[in-house]
Amino acid sequence: LDEGDGQMRAAVLDRFGPPETLRIREIERPQPSAGEILVEVVAAGINPVDAHNRRDGSWAGIELPAVLGSDASGIVSEVGPGVVDVRVGDEVFYFSDFLGSRGGSYAEYQAVDAAIVATKPVTITHAEAAAVPLAAGTAYEVIQRRLAISTSESILIFGAAGGVGTYAVQLARIAGARIVAVAGREAHELLRELGATVTTDYDNVEAAVRSSVGEVDGIADLVGKSRVPTSLPLVRAGGRVASIVELIGDFDAAIDRNVTVHGVLVRPDGERLRHLADLLERKLLRPLVTSEYALDDVVAAHRRIEERHGRGKVVLRIRPERPGAEKAQ
Ligand SMILES: NC(=O)c1ccc[n+]([C@@H]2O[C@H](COP(=O)([O-])OP(=O)(O)OC[C@H]3O[C@@H](n4cnc5c(N)ncnc54)[C@H](OP(=O)(O)O)[C@@H]3O)[C@@H](O)[C@H]2O)c1
Repeated sequence: LDEGDGQMRAAVLDRFGPPETLRIREIERPQPSAGEILVEVVAAGINPVDAHNRRDGSWAGIELPAVLGSDASGIVSEVGPGVVDVRVGDEVFYFSDFLGSRGGSYAEYQAVDAAIVATKPVTITHAEAAAVPLAAGTAYEVIQRRLAISTSESILIFGAAGGVGTYAVQLARIAGARIVAVAGREAHELLRELGATVTTDYDNVEAAVRSSVGEVDGIADLVGKSRVPTSLPLVRAGGRVASIVELIGDFDAAIDRNVTVHGVLVRPDGERLRHLADLLERKLLRPLVTSEYALDDVVAAHRRIEERHGRGKVVLRIRPERPGAEKAQ
C-alpha cells in the first residue's frame, strides 16, 4: 500500500455490464467532509444490489466511473470536522448507501457519514463483520420492525438460505418465533442449526405449514416469484407480510383477511447496526461467510454472487485482518 501519495487501489466500474467490467486501478483517496470519517477498509461485503448496480446502476443514480460496495469493516484513519464520537484507530463496520454516486467500499479507503457506523464486535473478524450490515440490517427491518414478530408467533420465510434469509431465521429465533424456513434442500440442516423449527423446499410449503403451525402470523418474502399471493391463505386473519423483492400478483386475499403488506427497502441506520452489534457480541447472532476473495479477484467474486448460492455471504479481503499479519505469514 502506498500511503503517501493520496492515491488508493479500488475496483472501478467505467461502464455498466458483466463482472469483467470491474477493473482494479489507482484512484484518488477520498477525504472526509464535515461529519464524515475515513476508513481503512479491511474487508468489504458483497450484496446482490452491487451486481444489480454493476449491470445498470442508473435506477440508483450512479454516475460512472464508480466504486461499488455498501458493506465494510475497517479501521478509522481520519475524522472530519464535527465528528466527536468516533476516533482514529476505532474498528468499525457499516452499511453505506447503494443509492447515489458516493465512493463505495471495494477500495482501500472509504469516506462515510460517522452516524452510520457501529463499533466492530471484538468477537468477530473484519471479514465476518463486513458480511453483516446490509443483509442483517434488511432482516432486522423485516423481522423486528415491520413484521414485529414476537414470542410464540410463527413465521414463514421464503429464501431462508440466502444472505438475508440466514439472518432472518436467526432474528426470528431470537424473537422466540416458530419458523417455517423455505429453501433448497442442501441448506435445510444449516437452517435448523440456525433456529428453523421446520424446513421445506418450495414445492411443499402448504403441507409444511399446515402440519406444523397450522397458519402463520407473518410471511417474510426474500425471493419473490409471486409466492406471497398464493400463500396468503396460510396467514391468519390480521397477520402481516413483508417483501424485500417484489409485490406482484393478486393480493385481494390480503384485503379479505385484513393482512398488512409491507414493502421494504433497507436504508443505512447506525442505531439498527448497534443493536445487531450487541447481538453479535453476545454470540446470539452468527455471521456466515461462505467465501472470501482478494480485491484483485473482484471479478471472480461478482461471478460467484451472480450464481446465487446463498448459505451466507461473499466478502472481499482488502487488507490483512491484523496490521503486519501479511508480513508474519
Ligand atoms: N429491499 C431491500 O432492501 C433488499 C435488501 C437486501 C436484499 N434484497 C434483495 O433480496 C434478494 C435476496 O437477497 P440475498 O442477499 O439474501 O440474496 P442471496 O444471498 O443471493 O440469496 C438468495 C436466495 O434465494 C434463493 N432463491 C430461490 N430461487 C431463486 C432464484 N430464482 N434466483 C435467485 N435466488 C433464488 C436461493 O436459495 P435457495 O435456492 O436455497 O432458495 C438463495 O439462497 C435479492 O434479490 C436482493 O437483491 C433487497
